[in-house]
Amino acid sequence: MENTIKLLGSVKNPATGKSLTEENRWVNAEAKDSGEVVITYKRDGIDPKQKRQIEDAIVDALKSNYEEDKILVKTVSQDPAPKAEDKPTAAHANLKVGHGVNGNKKRIPKVKKVIAVSSAKGGVGKSTVAVNLAVSLKNMGHSVGMLDADIYGPSLPILLNKKGSKPEATPEKKIKPLESYGLKFISFGLFINDNDPVIWRGPMLGGVLNQFFFDTDWGELDYLIIDLPPGTGDTQLSLVQNTEVDGVVVVSTPQNVAVADTIKGLRMFQQVNTPIIGMVENMAYFSPDGKEEKYYIFGKDGVKNVAKELEVNFLGSIPLEMVMREGGDQGKPYMADESHKENEGYKSYMAIAEKVAKMNEEKGFFSKLFK
Ligand SMILES: Nc1ncnc2c1ncn2[C@@H]1O[C@H](COP(=O)(O)OP(=O)(O)OP(=O)(O)O)[C@@H](O)[C@H]1O
Ligand SMILES: [Mg+2]
Repeated sequence: MENTIKLLGSVKNPATGKSLTEENRWVNAEAKDSGEVVITYKRDGIDPKQKRQIEDAIVDALKSNYEEDKILVKTVSQDPAPKAEDKPTAAHANLKVGHGVNGNKKRIPKVKKVIAVSSAKGGVGKSTVAVNLAVSLKNMGHSVGMLDADIYGPSLPILLNKKGSKPEATPEKKIKPLESYGLKFISFGLFINDNDPVIWRGPMLGGVLNQFFFDTDWGELDYLIIDLPPGTGDTQLSLVQNTEVDGVVVVSTPQNVAVADTIKGLRMFQQVNTPIIGMVENMAYFSPDGKEEKYYIFGKDGVKNVAKELEVNFLGSIPLEMVMREGGDQGKPYMADESHKENEGYKSYMAIAEKVAKMNEEKGFFSKLFK
């Protein structure tokens, strides 16, 4: 291991220009029987962009001795974890009121990738895409969770058929996510009554999101998919300020591609160094049962063209299918029903999920997005 630490001597902290060795940041280098090597360093004061630069430098330094995909990097931070002052005591989990934005970005322990599904406009199918992308990733064998960050119009309790269910607290007083269709999920909609006034939800936002991220017992997850409300408001800001989001999937219909709005939305994420994974075109066309022809009800290729213009990946088109809407209303995700396997929509979702997963596997893909 000493040799490994020596190899790492060249790795610098981009913030200071000094080596991590000089700054006494190395915590551990552990070679596992599986051939993996796990490097741990102290991350305090290093922002996500610099963190990615450091990760790339670690891989570069070690790739002569280890296979690139066997090099794992962990960080530790001396900043204290958020503490719940008044932990819930009842069997049911409670939410704390409060702003809770601390501007101190953290990763959710044991969650490998956090992916947000976003759009500039409302009603374009974010929640539908988020759920079906999550189920597709689960169908591929990944462990997947979902976090409904839309506190004004939460959809997941309906889409995942758990309306009226209340999350319980774990013995450690964390929120236990519900499970549905093999997904763990949490939603503000599980904590409120439909008739509760919307007006007091705003001030709770930051605190609630923090609890959903850090006081929820997610366990080990390959992906946590976040269903965002439309636009670029407080939720988006609170999210990117508090949590490290690994990438964003932007959803739009071809018609709603009001270029200015979409650019604004994308810029917001780029400004805070959150990579855009790519764009999904929803409600791209309609084909009557058993017919080949496509009707481009909301216009053709609107999203594809914007993706090209903005130089972001185009992930695919999802047609309008009546069963997709029905599945949503009935709490039976389209992608959880094998009888749709031959439909174009099903194939599109699988292709999109495969692209998302593949990007995740490509070493350094997320960091390359910055360069
Ligand atoms: N490809 C599709 N085919 C048929 N119906 C669809 C499709 N995509 C979404 N829908 C339907 O369109 C409606 C709006 O979708 P959804 O709630 O997912 O949008 P949203 O962007 O999350 O909305 P909001 O901005 O309110 O959060 C829902 O009834 C949903 O079932
Ligand atoms: Mg929604």
